[in-house]
Amino acid sequence: KTAFVFNGPNLNLLGQREPQVYGHHTLADVQALCAQACAELGLALDFRQSNHEGDLIDWIHAAGQAQQAGQAVGAVINAGAYTHTSVALHDAIKGAQLRVIELHISNVHAREAFRHHSYLSPVSQAVMCGFGVAGYALALRGLADGA
Ligand code: DQA
Repeated sequence: KTAFVFNGPNLNLLGQREPQVYGHHTLADVQALCAQACAELGLALDFRQSNHEGDLIDWIHAAGQAQQAGQAVGAVINAGAYTHTSVALHDAIKGAQLRVIELHISNVHAREAFRHHSYLSPVSQAVMCGFGVAGYALALRGLADGA
C-alpha cells in the first residue's frame, strides 16, 4: 500500500528557510528519510510538495480514492501556513474521508498565536509537531500502525 506525504507552501525552501526554526535538512533529505521509513514499514511512498492550495486539494481527493480502493494507508500532511488559513483543505480532507496525520516540523504552539489554530486538526487522526524532520518518520509509523 501507498503512504502519501504532502508538503505545502515554502517547504521547498527547507534547509535555507529560517534554519533556527526548521533546521538544516532540505526537502530532498526529508524525502530520503521518508523513503527509508516506508521501506522499513513495507509501504510505497508518494512524496510531493506544492506552493499551490489547489494542488494539495487535488492530491487529497486522489489519495482519498486510493485509500477507499484499499491501495493506500493515508497521508502525512505538512500544509505549512495553509494549516492556519485553509477551510478548503479542511473540507477536502473531510470530503475525501482521507486518514491524515497533520505534521509540523516546529512546535507551532510555542510560536506566534496565529500558528496556534489549525483547520486540519479537527479532520486529522493525529497531530505531530515539534520533532523536527524526524517527525515525518514517526508520523509514517503511526499511519502504518493505525491502518
Ligand atoms: C510548519 C509551521 C507553519 O506554521 C508554517 O507556516 C510552515 C511550516 C512547520 O512545519 O513547522 O510553513 O508547518
